[in-house]
Amino acid sequence: MAKSLEKAIADRSAVVGVVGLGYVGLPLIRAFIAAGFRTMGFDVDNSKVEKLLAGQSYIGHIPGEWISECIQAKKFVPTADMKRLAEADALLICVPTPLSDSRDPDLAYVEATARQIAAVLRPGQLVVLESTTYPGTTRDVVLPILAARGLELGKDYFLAYSPEREDPGNPDFSASGIPKVVGGMEPASARLAEALYSKAVVNVVPVANCEVAEACKILENTYRSVNIAMVNELKMLFDRIGIDVWEVIDAAKTKPFGFQAFYPGPGLGGHCIPIDPFYLSWVARKHGMPTRFIELAGEINTSMPTYVVNRVIAALNEAGKPLKGSKICLLGVAYKKDVDDPRESPSFELMELLGAGGAVLSYNDPHVPKLPKMRHHDVPAMDSTPLDAKFLASQDCVLIATDHSAYDYSFIVQNARLVVDTRNATKNVRQARERIRKA
Ligand SMILES: NC(=O)c1ccc[n+]([C@@H]2O[C@H](COP(=O)([O-])OP(=O)(O)OC[C@H]3O[C@@H](n4cnc5c(N)ncnc54)[C@H](O)[C@@H]3O)[C@@H](O)[C@H]2O)c1
Repeated sequence: MAKSLEKAIADRSAVVGVVGLGYVGLPLIRAFIAAGFRTMGFDVDNSKVEKLLAGQSYIGHIPGEWISECIQAKKFVPTADMKRLAEADALLICVPTPLSDSRDPDLAYVEATARQIAAVLRPGQLVVLESTTYPGTTRDVVLPILAARGLELGKDYFLAYSPEREDPGNPDFSASGIPKVVGGMEPASARLAEALYSKAVVNVVPVANCEVAEACKILENTYRSVNIAMVNELKMLFDRIGIDVWEVIDAAKTKPFGFQAFYPGPGLGGHCIPIDPFYLSWVARKHGMPTRFIELAGEINTSMPTYVVNRVIAALNEAGKPLKGSKICLLGVAYKKDVDDPRESPSFELMELLGAGGAVLSYNDPHVPKLPKMRHHDVPAMDSTPLDAKFLASQDCVLIATDHSAYDYSFIVQNARLVVDTRNATKNVRQARERIRKA
């Protein structure tokens, strides 16, 4: 079976199926189509499948025209019919891996997907888990579900782990331009997964096994979380002694070795950095070990919205205003610059805290026209308010939470009475700087 799959990968006749058509899955489909493969996309969310079939995109950087062209050319078949999983030669799993309410790994989506695949698994299929998870998931969670089908691993079917490294909104890196780490469950699985990805991405990095590949992804995200926490802490210290942390970082990053710049902000957001390190803490607890860096970073990063709100209160106070009744417009509810993804965005926590203090809230985000309902946050339903001069002047404070490139920061500062900037977005503004407070 390995030989025929190897040949199908080599001549690109293998059909690549991606399970989970979200922020990771859809760009991955794009990389395989660009490499000359036919693809299938599977999602339990029928509304997504219908949108794709109608040539509509729900992800900012994937154009709808490209989707309809690929569907018409039969290069991309989106479906919610999980029986069709049998039609693909390779199945790449990109489903969510959130935390449960008690902040433990929630592998329900991965398990459900493994069961869907196991129900139709046939000889000659390669399954690769891409979802971010703790070391041991592919072996301890996915393998037993697939093995129950009764086929032989390494002979009939193949299993590997390869973490996704998508950086949404970064025009310099698409899925195909980012090196891919690959670990197999056994040698034939490793060989086939490496062969497949090497057709679609710039560079494949083989590692000893699935556990190394899983740990690699968690290391990357923990590294970010810890370094962001460090600069967040230094931001608060430097502010107290009258030093601008952004200036310090800009100076430090001129060192050509041994320093990588991380930037402070209003708190962590997105699907990865606030969540993934806790997958590792969970494993550590199981092994009787603490992960102090992860816990401390989590503590500092989650305290940032409160710090920012205190800065807003202090800035209003300088102008003789209480938070209660003050009109505050928050700019940017997406979790990072130039994306439309609001998941885990600290903006919701900021709005909740400001709202609880009696502020009269509004928001603007060119990428998020309506405030989505969030599972863990209670914020009122609102539409994005257009930023004209009159509206800006009517606000007691404009709070920059996300530094989208679409904003004209000079215009904002010139028309607002007070701007609290959590991202150093106003660094190039020349006029009326006395209205800016960094937070
Ligand atoms: N978004 C990122 O930037 C990013 C970056 C690196 C890694 N990751 C990781 O990649 C994984 C996917 O993240 P995402 O951001 O693409 O999530 P997403 O929520 O955008 O997409 C996941 C999709 O999977 C679908 N799905 C859920 N259960 C399914 C099932 N049983 N069968 C088929 N489809 C199912 C959902 O309907 C959804 O469309 C996560 O583990 C995440 O941590 C995400």
